[in-house]
Amino acid sequence: MGRVLTDEQVDSYHRDGFLVVPGFVGPQALAELKAAAERIVDEFVPPARPTVFTTNEQERVSDREFLASGSRVSCFFEEEAFLADGSLRQAKLLSINKLGHAMHDLVPEFQRFTYTSDLAGAVADIGLTDALALQSMYIFKQPHIGGEVGCHQDATFLYTAPVTVTGCWFAVEDATLENGCLWAAPGGHRTSLRKVFKRLGGPGPEGDDAGTEFDVLDTAPLPTAPDDLVPVEVPAGTLVLLHGLLPHWSDVNRSSTSRHAYTVHCVSAAADYPEWNWLQRPAGMPLHRLDSPANEEASPR
Ligand code: FE2
Repeated sequence: MGRVLTDEQVDSYHRDGFLVVPGFVGPQALAELKAAAERIVDEFVPPARPTVFTTNEQERVSDREFLASGSRVSCFFEEEAFLADGSLRQAKLLSINKLGHAMHDLVPEFQRFTYTSDLAGAVADIGLTDALALQSMYIFKQPHIGGEVGCHQDATFLYTAPVTVTGCWFAVEDATLENGCLWAAPGGHRTSLRKVFKRLGGPGPEGDDAGTEFDVLDTAPLPTAPDDLVPVEVPAGTLVLLHGLLPHWSDVNRSSTSRHAYTVHCVSAAADYPEWNWLQRPAGMPLHRLDSPANEEASPR
């Protein structure tokens, strides 16, 4: 696998816990991904009780759909999507918080975008030479109602022993202070994991309604947003690599422009992946290495 990042970029990643790589993806690939995401929303028929996404733990909806979404393509509404009478405040296309969490293996456009030698190379350059693509999200951060994502460490939600989860965050649209860009705590990855999010009721991708809980590992507080964080304003096409222990956050979007982003979270194939992780894939749907040739096993299922 050829080098993708420079020595300076690799050093910067290990120093800060994140790395901004401008111009990683071209406009055509972004347009294809965005069109696929919008097609999924267009075809989505909301259930009678829609699933809302929030990372604010008191309000987290850990319902069956969420727990099953590790091997599906699910649509999650913004918390503020609905008016008091239950109708949508904005058009459906402007009401979805995110898609998750297996588009990278189920949707050809996402698969092509994800399994590239460039991304596999970049991730290998920062030390993850046996990366498995575990989870994907398409985040809309909708105009006016785009929700806050509370300060967190990704290893809380995708745990391996040792911690190997690495976030690959792509700006599909420009991310600015106004529309809710990422914020990160430079160097904050050289710290402890504060808590883990566990599926209750045993393993299995579906069929348990026991819900989830947080186990606190270290009561040291995470940095306070936004005071202890720095904004990561980036143009469309930028890749941001995020260490699994790096505290990061994003604000609400009250602006009139959306802030679409696509994330892929990878883990080392050699690390232990406990069966209490919320995300469990069925036996017939194994994870694939990031450097797998795209589309080889990629016919639509
Ligand atoms: Fe995150």
